[in-house]
Amino acid sequence: MSASPLFRPFDHPKLKLRNRIVMAPMTRKRSPGGAPGADVAAYYRRRGEGGVGLILSEGAGIRRNGSRSDPAVPNLFGDDALAGWQAVVDGVKATGAKFAPQLWHVGARPDEATKALPEAPIDSPSGLPWPGKTVAEPMSEEAIADTIAAYAEAAANAAKLGCDAVEIHGAHGYLIDQFLWDGTNLRSDGWNGPTLKERARFAAEVVRAMRQATGPDFPILIRISQDKSPDGSVRLANDPGELALLVEVLAEAGVDIFHCSGARFSRREFAGSDLSFAGWVKKISGLPTIAVGTVGLDVPPATPLFATIAPGPIDEVERRLDAGEFDLVAVGRALLADPDWAEKVRAGRTDELIGFEARYVAELH
Ligand SMILES: Cc1cc2nc3c(=O)[nH]c(=O)nc-3n(C[C@H](O)[C@H](O)[C@H](O)COP(=O)(O)O)c2cc1C
Repeated sequence: MSASPLFRPFDHPKLKLRNRIVMAPMTRKRSPGGAPGADVAAYYRRRGEGGVGLILSEGAGIRRNGSRSDPAVPNLFGDDALAGWQAVVDGVKATGAKFAPQLWHVGARPDEATKALPEAPIDSPSGLPWPGKTVAEPMSEEAIADTIAAYAEAAANAAKLGCDAVEIHGAHGYLIDQFLWDGTNLRSDGWNGPTLKERARFAAEVVRAMRQATGPDFPILIRISQDKSPDGSVRLANDPGELALLVEVLAEAGVDIFHCSGARFSRREFAGSDLSFAGWVKKISGLPTIAVGTVGLDVPPATPLFATIAPGPIDEVERRLDAGEFDLVAVGRALLADPDWAEKVRAGRTDELIGFEARYVAELH
């Protein structure tokens, strides 16, 4: 057995994992018409065979026209899509890995690659993907209620498919984050307010509806992030007190595990402490957290996401995991490049690790 803390089992009352390695959610746009096919199932299965503990899917749309900004992003509703996902889930679970889909609604944000806006009606708190840029009308009460119901329906679908958990994409400036940020939430009703506590209401209602739809034992994860802008100049929470407002509302609504997204897992989040974002969220909530960002890659500062990157050491992430700063470690690009990343690390075959290149985003290997 490997002595690395990455290979200690995760023993949560609702979710048992064979190790601490999580495949980060990564959009692939390989599901024409919203239905994942055999190639997508094989892609996820290979990461399960490669030893990952928990596989998080790419973001998947919910039953709202505007939830996706590209028709090749998969859905988590509808017969064809669900049949496609069933093959993914069964294939992954046969490898001993666990599987959770990520639910994604882009809100008012255009697609990062094509710059296309989602199909109408665009759902967002105030019609803004970014302060000062209006692309749609604010969501009506009816649209908000229907969107929350669509999240719940997708979560129920995940449970029916035999998924082990479900993750809400609450990060990176998409719909839920648009409600959280005062730069994109300009509402003057009960979906906004002076602090993150009030702006978290939409996210909390989504969690509650998903809990209601799936029962008390189904693990609900939420991914949150601090950064809104590519240069990292805007943060959601400016200090631990602000972060606590958000985290406490979400924990009370029923979140089981927080996925703390950031460019670098080790970034010092607030002055006066070395703690990372995942470290702070764990400290505040008392709940397990997932750290992510540059794990297994040797990434110089300010490197673009799709640059060529060599494999890197993992001792710092192991040290923090061992110290209990966070509980799970998500791996994105390193796993996109190398389906066997986890097994190679476990067996000490680090000289065989494959670095990341943009072509791995273009392929589905
Ligand atoms: C091709 C690609 C697609 C991504 N798609 C998503 C997504 O659908 N949902 C999400 O929350 N994050 C997404 N991300 C962000 C990753 O989950 C992860 O946080 C990021 O790549 C940093 O981790 P890494 O350094 O291990 O790659 C994506 C990243 C990449 C490279």
